[in-house]
Amino acid sequence: MYLVLLGPPGAGKGTQAERLEKELHLPHIASGDLFRENLKRKTELGLLAKKYMDRGDLVPDDVTIAMVRQRLQRPDCDQGAILDGFPRTLAQAKSLDEMLAEMGRRLDGVLYIAVPDEELVRRLSGRWICRRCQTPYHTVFSPPAQKGVCDACGGELYQRDDDRPETVRARLKVYHQQTAPLIDYYRRAGLLVEVDGSGDIETVSTALLKAIRSLMK
Ligand code: AP5
Ligand code: MG
Ligand code: ZN
Repeated sequence: MYLVLLGPPGAGKGTQAERLEKELHLPHIASGDLFRENLKRKTELGLLAKKYMDRGDLVPDDVTIAMVRQRLQRPDCDQGAILDGFPRTLAQAKSLDEMLAEMGRRLDGVLYIAVPDEELVRRLSGRWICRRCQTPYHTVFSPPAQKGVCDACGGELYQRDDDRPETVRARLKVYHQQTAPLIDYYRRAGLLVEVDGSGDIETVSTALLKAIRSLMK
């Protein structure tokens, strides 16, 4: 099963993808995490991506598509994957269709996590993520058992540079301009399922699993 989690920055894509990964036994592939891993290793790709990420802009399509293509070709994606943060432009969406077709596969559904902008700012300003495994936490909504330490792996928690208020505003603008058109694109393809993402983490998880079951029928 190949699924896309679509939604604005801070909607909970990463939070929910981690839960779905365990529930569905499918790999979680997050383009943002892949860029941050590259940056940590100081690769050329990571350093290039940082220039765009720091401004809240999208990394150019060609490098993003090449990176995701490489990841999808690994054997663990043979039976499916949960894509988080990709595609984000129409060109990326079309490339994804091509990549899956080359693998003899197709996209099964796109889960659109809808959350109002005011709530997104609240979520991002309190977010801390794990330096080692990138699990997201929130000081109020999803605190770790021990302050500053990842429950999942014991890694150190930090705040992302691009979660500063001015960068969050830029990311939201870019989302509305370049990514929101995908909602219609996938609706027309009959692949879109909208889920209310404004409830608490547990409520959203339940709604997503229900939506996925409806796709499997
Ligand atoms: P990326 O890392 O994908 O960032 P994003 O899309 O801005 O999404 P976030 O990770 O900020 O939010 P999320 O939806 O995962 O929310 P989370 O679960 O963490 O991309 C970063 C950058 O990389 C981009 O700006 C761009 O430059 C580049 N990039 C990435 N992909 C690209 C692509 N395809 N093309 C081009 N460039 C690309 O939750 C947020 C917070 O809220 C957490 O603290 C969490 O604990 C909390 N929370 C989650 N759910 C709830 C809930 N239900 N109630 C209360 N709190 C909640
Ligand atoms: Mg994320
Ligand atoms: Zn961790």
